[in-house]
Amino acid sequence: MTTVATDILVTCALPYANGSIHLGHMFEHIQADIWVRYQKLRGKNVYFICADDAHGTPVMLKAKALGMPVEEMIAHINQEHQADFSNFEISYDNYYSTHSQENHDCSNYIYTRLKDNGFIKTHVISQLYDTEAGMFLPDRFVQGTCPYCHSINQYGDHCAVCSATYSPSELINAKSVLSGVTPILRNSEHFFFDLPKFNNFLQQWIHSGILQKQVTHKLQEWFHSGLKEWDISRDAPYFGFEIPNAPGKYFYVWLDAPIGYIAAFKNLCKKRTDIDFESFWKIDSKTNLYHFIGKDIIYFHGLFWPAMLSGSQLRTPTNLFVHGYVTVNGTKMSKSQGTFITAKTWLQYFDSDSLRYYYASKISSRIEDVDLNLDDMMHRVNSDIVNKVVNLASRTASFINHRFLGQLSATIADPNLYQTFVNASVRIGDALDKREFSRAIRDIMAFADIANHYINEQAPWHLAKQKDRDSDLQAICTMGINLFYVLINWLKPVMPALARRSEKFLNHSLNWEEIKQPLLNHRINKFKTLYTRIESQQIHNLNASLKTEETI
Ligand code: MSP
Ligand code: ZN
Repeated sequence: MTTVATDILVTCALPYANGSIHLGHMFEHIQADIWVRYQKLRGKNVYFICADDAHGTPVMLKAKALGMPVEEMIAHINQEHQADFSNFEISYDNYYSTHSQENHDCSNYIYTRLKDNGFIKTHVISQLYDTEAGMFLPDRFVQGTCPYCHSINQYGDHCAVCSATYSPSELINAKSVLSGVTPILRNSEHFFFDLPKFNNFLQQWIHSGILQKQVTHKLQEWFHSGLKEWDISRDAPYFGFEIPNAPGKYFYVWLDAPIGYIAAFKNLCKKRTDIDFESFWKIDSKTNLYHFIGKDIIYFHGLFWPAMLSGSQLRTPTNLFVHGYVTVNGTKMSKSQGTFITAKTWLQYFDSDSLRYYYASKISSRIEDVDLNLDDMMHRVNSDIVNKVVNLASRTASFINHRFLGQLSATIADPNLYQTFVNASVRIGDALDKREFSRAIRDIMAFADIANHYINEQAPWHLAKQKDRDSDLQAICTMGINLFYVLINWLKPVMPALARRSEKFLNHSLNWEEIKQPLLNHRINKFKTLYTRIESQQIHNLNASLKTEETI
């Protein structure tokens, strides 16, 4: 049977354009990248895209606070985000922004279709208004005393002390966070997306059996409490797209944010001639669409987004790949606790592969929170990558380099053992495909142990001292290099920088299928350090820098 290359479009959630990329974001981008790289290695035709989520009140106010035009700020942050992702080797085919012509066009198109199909309604609602700032206040910009437990300084929509949820007008002694004045209630006409009309469609999607069990469960809870119309408009002043034929009314940021997936892809299609945009988004598309997202945004991607797509006769996602949250040293990432680590800060003290490997060793296809413990990270990387994988190459390469001019032998010493490794590719590949990265890593390290055990038993350093054992020495070290070759091939999607250095050393580019044949009669390059051990001083320096950041 001939296999037809499957076309796949993969996205990560679009990071807000009002702050730096941190290690929580990286958890998502790294896992998606590992998956994408693996699929590409297996010959799939994958497009991997993302963008900044540039609209909304927090972005608008941040620019104001900085005294900068908002367009300038988001352009600057976009550059920073792109640099962070490329420094972590996230292999985006396109990284765009929701504040773009393509997104404006796509948003208008989808809105107009939804409207024409009768899914948009209007209602006059009453909302808190800051007369001094001259704007309606999002829930987060109102603070006051909880109407239930009377704790002070609680946000407009929920109480962090007693977990009650309420409407901002119920808050006692409410104050605007922006100006400190007591907000007044003011009426305004809003546009609503008629989510309840999608009841049957969403029931089907939720119970299609494709979604992760935990996601189905979560979506069901919302379903049981009843689908509600979704407020998709905001009044000026707002940074976003003005709604067609509705002056002074803007699309709420979460309306145009997921449409940003389509727009970022559209922009990619403009830059290239070989992709058929329509075939990815038409209702009967044969391509696959996967969204990597965190558990906090299931609601938007599991209900609104598929409903919006369906309501405008476009294809819906093939699946959502939802992950849990990252904590650092056991606590929620927080600036005041010195546990808020940006992508940029990480790279001042460690390399990108270390984080990629550590995350991979903890990722499963379930929604689980993951703790980044720096000592544990150091231990993991040193004991697995330095002591097991790289060491296997270094202790066998030295003989090949010095005694045989870099030449591998014509046969390997133990073809059966090599075959055991090759056979394991199927199940390691399967784990990578299913996003069971921790299982894949455990398996790979078990094979690294077997490989090292083999070299310990064969003890080439003894053979090297014996007369007339040259061909045995060469065959055994060739075996060691080839077991390294298989291990590093499996690790390639996880640690691309290490893989590149290894390819140079092996004088061969890694290819998932090719490892079926060992490297024989082949000349390798001189062994240079492939990976540098992590020292506790580096952790110390990082922690010290987080403490100084905090006091500045
Ligand atoms: N802008 C929206 C997404 C719009 S998608 C159409 C958003 N942005 S975000 O910057 O707050 O988050 C982006 C992604 O990072 C989300 O999937 C979120 O779950 C993830 N994470 C943010 N902090 C995280 C952790 N501490 N841990 C793991 N993922 C985290 O939401
Ligand atoms: Zn309360």
